[in-house]
Amino acid sequence: MTADQARRDRWRRYWDKHSASYDRQMRFFDRVLFGDSRAWVCSQATGDTLEVGIGTGLNLPLYPAGITLTGIDISPAMLKIAADRARQLGREAGLREADAHNLPFPSTTFDTVVSTFSLCAIPDHQRAIAEIHRVLRPGGLLLLADHIAGSAPAVRAAQRLLETVTIPTGGEHFLRRPLDQARAEGFTIERQERFKLGIVERIAARKPAPP
Ligand SMILES: C[S@@+](CC[C@H](N)C(=O)[O-])C[C@H]1O[C@@H](n2cnc3c(N)ncnc32)[C@H](O)[C@@H]1O
Repeated sequence: MTADQARRDRWRRYWDKHSASYDRQMRFFDRVLFGDSRAWVCSQATGDTLEVGIGTGLNLPLYPAGITLTGIDISPAMLKIAADRARQLGREAGLREADAHNLPFPSTTFDTVVSTFSLCAIPDHQRAIAEIHRVLRPGGLLLLADHIAGSAPAVRAAQRLLETVTIPTGGEHFLRRPLDQARAEGFTIERQERFKLGIVERIAARKPAPP
């Protein structure tokens, strides 16, 4: 087994195990921290849309009716809850098990890629953003919301301390800033909002189309 496979298996088991309690925990953070970020992200999706790390599908009710949705995640148990939710909502969604580090789609497949609160949990978020860039069509939109490193040194110090526990036990990172990786990958940031002591950020970033 390669190191990549071992890592994937470990976090798959982790998310499978936590799938049943995920919605209750996440609803709490949505209420106190993330506000309307899910609606902010999903309302901007158009056309062929991929959600990376779709989890239990909490975003499913928030997408516009006209899009074609594909969702990937490494956890079959999270995906099962997402599939049940899609069925209850009467929403078509192509859900499949896949790793964000190696997206199983040809280049330039999607008009929109969405990721909410997953880049903090995906081991190599830079590689995931490079993959997202690859599968987006030129002119396509990347829509992200996540918790990131706070604006103030005291907040970041607390997050650094928190990470000493959360990274080994849950793969959860608190000091990332996906905006920097998106810029480095060549995306143009079109909209950016940051709030709650700078801990929450949401962005809309465009993959430039050739002139
Ligand atoms: C905090 S949850 C977020 C779920 C969902 N995006 C949401 O907004 O509620 C993180 C999700 O990322 C998934 N994940 C972690 N590593 C992954 C990887 N390498 N590839 C795909 N999904 C991954 C987990 O299985 C989990 O469902």
